[in-house]
Amino acid sequence: MKMHTTELPRTMGISLIHSETDPALSLAPYSDLAPENVAFVERFHQSIPFYRPTPLVSLENLSRRLGVGGIYVKNESLRFAEFGLNAFKGMGGIFAVGQVICRQLGLDPETTTYAQLNSPEVREKTRDMVFITTTDGNHGRGVAWAAHQYGCRSYVYMPKGSAPSRVEAIKRVGAEDCIVTDMNYDDTVKLTARLARENGWHLVQDTAWAGYEEIPQLIVQGYTTLGHEAVTQMEAIGAGAPTHVFLQAGVGSLAGSLIGYYAQLLPRRPRFIIVEPTMVACFYHSASIGDGEPHGVQSAENTIMAGLNCGQPSIGVWPVIRDLATDYIACDDDLTEEGMRLYANPVPGDEAIVSGESAAVGLGLVNRILSEPALAAFRDTLGLDQNSRILLISTEGATDPVGYDRVVHGR
Ligand SMILES: Cc1ncc(COP(=O)(O)O)c(C=O)c1O
Repeated sequence: MKMHTTELPRTMGISLIHSETDPALSLAPYSDLAPENVAFVERFHQSIPFYRPTPLVSLENLSRRLGVGGIYVKNESLRFAEFGLNAFKGMGGIFAVGQVICRQLGLDPETTTYAQLNSPEVREKTRDMVFITTTDGNHGRGVAWAAHQYGCRSYVYMPKGSAPSRVEAIKRVGAEDCIVTDMNYDDTVKLTARLARENGWHLVQDTAWAGYEEIPQLIVQGYTTLGHEAVTQMEAIGAGAPTHVFLQAGVGSLAGSLIGYYAQLLPRRPRFIIVEPTMVACFYHSASIGDGEPHGVQSAENTIMAGLNCGQPSIGVWPVIRDLATDYIACDDDLTEEGMRLYANPVPGDEAIVSGESAAVGLGLVNRILSEPALAAFRDTLGLDQNSRILLISTEGATDPVGYDRVVHGR
């Protein structure tokens, strides 16, 4: 349980709730994210012939300019890029779909390799398996792609207003069909859950609700590999462990994954900062109510951070985020636009990164908080100073190329 919270008044499009976490809290409830219990996840990823860690980029000149020890960016735009995925979600998809197949066929989920799942005998048995999911883009692309890699079929549903380029991208990676509904994200999830029940299909959703928790937790475990990559890469360049990890949240699966994993992996627990769009900040809202329960908000129809436009926290990760996140930030869309442009046109000497709408908000925030005198209280509350080693996860590339061009190139 949280001990004490402070809310800073909204300034320059940013709101912040800081909460004291209990250093003596037992992490036993999160043992499925303990390093020894997810080692097999990374082994599975490593058994995939086309798996490669994505690069970690050090924005050395920017961090010098902003007066922090370092800013390190995990560049997920290059994840499974040769398949056109360009986002972290494929890590959860390929692992979770593989695990569902193991369970269906009675194969050992901890030792079965990617090659075994793709053997002719297994493919003979799985070719009639059908997967279904709801997505605002990247998750569905990851699931459709994963199902296709294993020789299975998939149907992907999207909420109204989804960008046509995202629909096309999902079809391109092998979905049987990708259907845009006239409902919001949360109602579309309900529809796909019903279709799965009626047709005997496998629902692979990255958000959990009462009675549907096992598969989302596999996805959460699937993301720990990228978390391990990031800290191993920081260590390898002599940067040490992060002191601050900014995690943008939609349903919270990525954030919950890295928080639960890092809290048990790293000798000193970093600050975990949850970042959401102001218009659909369900974790922020839940933290501000502060009764220990998750509270939903209406999904927004107009944040450009499409991957973060989820109104309900996943109940699978809610406890770990409630107990271990130190800060919750809700911020306006212009922050992510600023982040996208700064990634694309970095401080001279730093490497450029293609970073999409749901990926760049952490950098936009850090940059604004550290360069605007009016935000000094935010900097101090977050404890950002010359000793801070900030880890950002740039979770996608230009997955909506039209939107990316508009923001970055003004076209
Ligand atoms: C690019 C990107 N970043 C971050 C997220 C947030 O992940 P989660 O929904 O697990 O909180 C998403 C989710 O779709 C996403 O697509």
